[in-house]
Amino acid sequence: MKLIKAKDYEDLSKLAATYFIKKIQYSPAMTIGLATGSTPEGMYRYLVKDYKENHTSYRNITTFNLDEYIGLDGSNNNSYRFFMNNHLFNHIDIEKSNVHIPCGTSKDSLAECATYDQLIKEHGGIDLQLLGIGGNGHIGFNEPGSSFQSRTRIVELTDKTRRDNARFFNNPEEVPTEAITMGMGTILESKEILMLISGEGKREAARMLLSGNVNEDFPASALHKHANAIVIADEAALTDV
Ligand code: GLP
Repeated sequence: MKLIKAKDYEDLSKLAATYFIKKIQYSPAMTIGLATGSTPEGMYRYLVKDYKENHTSYRNITTFNLDEYIGLDGSNNNSYRFFMNNHLFNHIDIEKSNVHIPCGTSKDSLAECATYDQLIKEHGGIDLQLLGIGGNGHIGFNEPGSSFQSRTRIVELTDKTRRDNARFFNNPEEVPTEAITMGMGTILESKEILMLISGEGKREAARMLLSGNVNEDFPASALHKHANAIVIADEAALTDV
């Protein structure tokens, strides 16, 4: 796992966007894995800026998002589909049929999970997967204890994750209790992984990750097992680490 130190959130966002843009320009039909949360918002802002100024095309790009809340459909402004449309997809030339996000309102969520993994396989896997990190080390919605072999599945969110994400909702009780997440095994099969860690709120998570201990109780530590994982972290996240 390679660590790149960024000065601050803007620097981290710019570095991550530049990394993605170069890859997309070199491989315009690649399959990318995308993440939600506040951390990648800055990177998406830079991708949109680059699209407007330099016209990097997403027409042949396929995307797979990590996760979605169960019970929220794409018109709900807390759904991850809404987030992605709002921050990225509505502003670039991506074909909506090439965008994949687990459906949180499927009548058959189990089938939805199996189909999602199958679709990723049919696309030859994910070339470059973007990740954030939860305060408890979760990636996607793979909470502590998730098997490193797990596939896309339904998960129960921990109280900590629901509390951390409550800031986006009008009322903490509205935070769904379950989600569909790409599995750890699914994520680890990505050819390349780029994780972003920003802010002092993520210091403990950064410290745990950089300690080098690999343990299913800290899902992000699986990156140490990956042959091609890069972490970009800013100074605020790395202070005293
Ligand atoms: C959610 C998402 C994760 C994300 C995490 C951290 O739980 N499922 O993919 O990494 O939040 O979000 P933030 O970047 O807002 O701290």
